[in-house]
Amino acid sequence: MSSEDRQSHWQNVYTTRREKEVSWFQERPDVSVEFIVATGAGPDSAIVDIGGGASRLVDALLDDGYRSLTVLDLSEAALASSRDRIGRRAATVTWIAADITTWRPPQRYDVWHDRAAFHFLTDEKDKRAYLSRMEAALRVGGQAIIATFALDGPERCSGLPVARYDGASLAALFGPHFRLLANRVVEHRTPSGAAQVFQFSRFAFGH
Ligand SMILES: C[S@@+](CC[C@H](N)C(=O)[O-])C[C@H]1O[C@@H](n2cnc3c(N)ncnc32)[C@H](O)[C@@H]1O
Repeated sequence: MSSEDRQSHWQNVYTTRREKEVSWFQERPDVSVEFIVATGAGPDSAIVDIGGGASRLVDALLDDGYRSLTVLDLSEAALASSRDRIGRRAATVTWIAADITTWRPPQRYDVWHDRAAFHFLTDEKDKRAYLSRMEAALRVGGQAIIATFALDGPERCSGLPVARYDGASLAALFGPHFRLLANRVVEHRTPSGAAQVFQFSRFAFGH
């Protein structure tokens, strides 16, 4: 899928569906918050949510006192929807509309979080591009949290094919600079009541 096709797909999703009408909606992103806490991040740690969409993770992190937050997404409409929901505090967050496979990170981050964005990359070339962005964006000693559909999770999301993983297959793909620290299988309930099996993996980045 070209970058333009991806962008128009996701802009269309976020301009035609309300927040709670998408299968990945979560009222409270508890597992993501728990995994971020487990990194040992402090209030000034730089945290980036990759493919953050209109997720309420940024609200939860602001509530918990994190002050250096960035949300990146392909869809400007998704980011605008989060900004509108958050109100005044949105001005303290950095919002980036970009395709992760071509993004040039402007700084290093302590924590890289991705729930259900990486798994849309099914071409080897795109996976490699994602990995090189993640390596350029993380400080040495930083951590990455990658949540995807699990090996027995759905084969598609938002009408698009996805790649499914467990901790070991992600670790094999990411290579020796990423050490798997934790992995958990989590069942997500979509707003329409369907069960989807996700896996969350946390990695330490080093040389
Ligand atoms: C299934 S949604 C998950 C959104 C959010 N992380 C959550 O948990 O609610 C996938 C998100 O990834 C974004 N996305 C997909 N491909 C992307 C890419 N190549 N670069 C940046 N964002 C992308 C989409 O716009 C969408 O918001």
